[in-house]
Amino acid sequence: MSWDPGQYELFAAERARPFHDLIAQIPTTRPERVVDLGCGPGTVTATLADRWPGAHVYGLDSSPDMISAAARLIRPGRLGFGLGDIAQWRPAPESVDVIVSNAALQWVPDHVTALPVWAAALRPGGALAMQMPLSRGVTATDVFRSVATSPRWAGRVGAVAIGTGPRSVSPVRPAAEYLEVLVASGLTVNVWETTYLHVLAGTDPVLEWFTGTGLRPYLDALSADPPALALFREDVAQRLREEYPHRGYGTVLPFPRLFVVATRS
Ligand SMILES: C[S@@+](CC[C@H](N)C(=O)[O-])C[C@H]1O[C@@H](n2cnc3c(N)ncnc32)[C@H](O)[C@@H]1O
Repeated sequence: MSWDPGQYELFAAERARPFHDLIAQIPTTRPERVVDLGCGPGTVTATLADRWPGAHVYGLDSSPDMISAAARLIRPGRLGFGLGDIAQWRPAPESVDVIVSNAALQWVPDHVTALPVWAAALRPGGALAMQMPLSRGVTATDVFRSVATSPRWAGRVGAVAIGTGPRSVSPVRPAAEYLEVLVASGLTVNVWETTYLHVLAGTDPVLEWFTGTGLRPYLDALSADPPALALFREDVAQRLREEYPHRGYGTVLPFPRLFVVATRS
């Protein structure tokens, strides 16, 4: 899937909020090695280096565009970035103090199977902190599916929505499953869910928000046909305007998210 750092940064403040709510719960005081899985353009990764001045912070992402956008933030010996797939990331036992993954694991099928390895990679006092959107509770996700499977679009992008496409079923598991897997891995686990009511400015802000994330698989499927892509976007925009009406103060996007902070004592 292609990622556009500029589009993703459009709602930087709203997207950063869950990250800060997540890392506020990390109790680790003096980590040496910190890894941010799915670091995107690196903006929030850099705040980890600010929080822990004694740490080396490394951001990993599979998008070359995101990693080149992050390059502007490199601090030699303190903050670095690299291209790689989270699904392949297998750290050595007791080699890391903090593992963070904000809004990325929902793109990684079977990430739950990696959790025991990541748990074993934590040094004593270390923490694994992850946040994922709960797209099942988001009306916009239903809108994308219903437009994509409508008679007009089913032949072009229906597969993305109904099960044979790259992003048909969310890999995010029920909260209790993360709790159980991580407790079984010897960690103390703090799990919670929050629904943010983001108030977005601008024209068609919900469309713009998801153009940077959850709508991408559909847009990618049409990328070779710009007129069809524009038409599909307009069909989605129309439905989103009905579901998320513009109010005098902005457009409200309710967005549920799952948080997990697991620590090794
Ligand atoms: C929604 S962005 C989150 C970026 C950043 N963590 C933040 O909070 O701003 C998701 C990021 O996950 C990355 N990503 C998705 N699947 C990945 C994978 N399998 N391996 C590494 N990175 C991945 C994408 O390239 C994208 O940069």
